[in-house]
Amino acid sequence: MSITDLGRLGGEPPSDGGTDLAVHAEGLVKTFGGHRAVDGIDLDVRPGEIFGVLGPNGAGKTTMLRMLATLLKIDAGRAEIFGVDVAGNPHMIRQLVGVTGQYASVDENLTARENLWLFGRLQGVAAPRARRIAVDLLGQFGLEEAADRPIAQFSGGMRRRLDLAASLITRPPLIFLDEPTTGLDPRTRGQMWDTIRGLVADGCTVLLTTQYLDEADQLADRVAVIDHGRKVAEGTPDELKSAVGNSALQMLLAEPDEVPIAVEIVRRVLGSDPVLGTEQGRLNVALDQADLAADVLIALRTAGVSIASVSVAKPSLDEVFLALTGHETDGDKTGTEENR
Ligand SMILES: Nc1ncnc2c1ncn2[C@@H]1O[C@H](COP(=O)(O)OP(=O)(O)OP(=O)(O)O)[C@@H](O)[C@H]1O
Ligand SMILES: [Mg+2]
Repeated sequence: MSITDLGRLGGEPPSDGGTDLAVHAEGLVKTFGGHRAVDGIDLDVRPGEIFGVLGPNGAGKTTMLRMLATLLKIDAGRAEIFGVDVAGNPHMIRQLVGVTGQYASVDENLTARENLWLFGRLQGVAAPRARRIAVDLLGQFGLEEAADRPIAQFSGGMRRRLDLAASLITRPPLIFLDEPTTGLDPRTRGQMWDTIRGLVADGCTVLLTTQYLDEADQLADRVAVIDHGRKVAEGTPDELKSAVGNSALQMLLAEPDEVPIAVEIVRRVLGSDPVLGTEQGRLNVALDQADLAADVLIALRTAGVSIASVSVAKPSLDEVFLALTGHETDGDKTGTEENR
């Protein structure tokens, strides 16, 4: 395999590396000043899939992607991209992976066309070819009309698309997208999803991070949920949802002191433990059948545990997340700098 073999979008990934996986990572660790931002993550991404890494702020998503993309040193564990060892072959890995960062990495004062051209030139593409690629990408991403406007005048959605376009100049077979739709309005998010699906239809493999559960649900073939640097679950969105039962009983106890008694009762009635919410006295219980909720509530009343509020619902991915991690996602994230 030579690097030039990888020159097409979705171009045949190398097949002589001993693994069929696009990404294979074992026990990845990154420590920042004693804090394990990524704490032993295993990851397998199959060629041609959209793999979603889901986690709240600070979970370690960006750090993990940056290690896989050779932008950060791997402190422990190892990773391969299409069978190529990441730590041992950083140059080859950079040919295999296109990275679109959480922050748009384009020059504000240049136009979209100039930016793409410049990115191409910086990556060693000859000038006439860089010009042609820029025109193609501007078309592919619906940016023709804005092509000659400076980026400073672009909307958030246009910037995201340009940033993604820039990561495709060398047509890598694997694309990392770090929170590709954070801060975008719903319509622009939908467009971005279509663009990402289009990349996969063209043969690309996509590893993306998100903190939006619906995004993982809509877009990803498989999802890994990470929290505090560790993987807490993995599967298709449907598998993750069914893992927490068909219904979810949410309760707020009138007396937070009674949580231990309530936990004991739920365990006795259902044979499984409830998940405690961040709010004092909140319990979430996965149910195989919605009518088991009545059994739990009767047992609680019999034991004299009073409940301030209660609801039974089909679990959303939010509840899946809560059940898996014991805390909610940051639904109020606004995408501002201080949140990142
Ligand atoms: N360069 C760094 N130096 C020190 N600590 C860091 C550095 N980069 C990340 N961290 C810490 O590592 C943890 C994981 O950060 P990371 O950026 O990977 O999270 P994330 O899942 O991408 O979060 P977000 O959704 O906010 O982007 C955080 O506690 C963060 O403060
Ligand atoms: Mg991040």
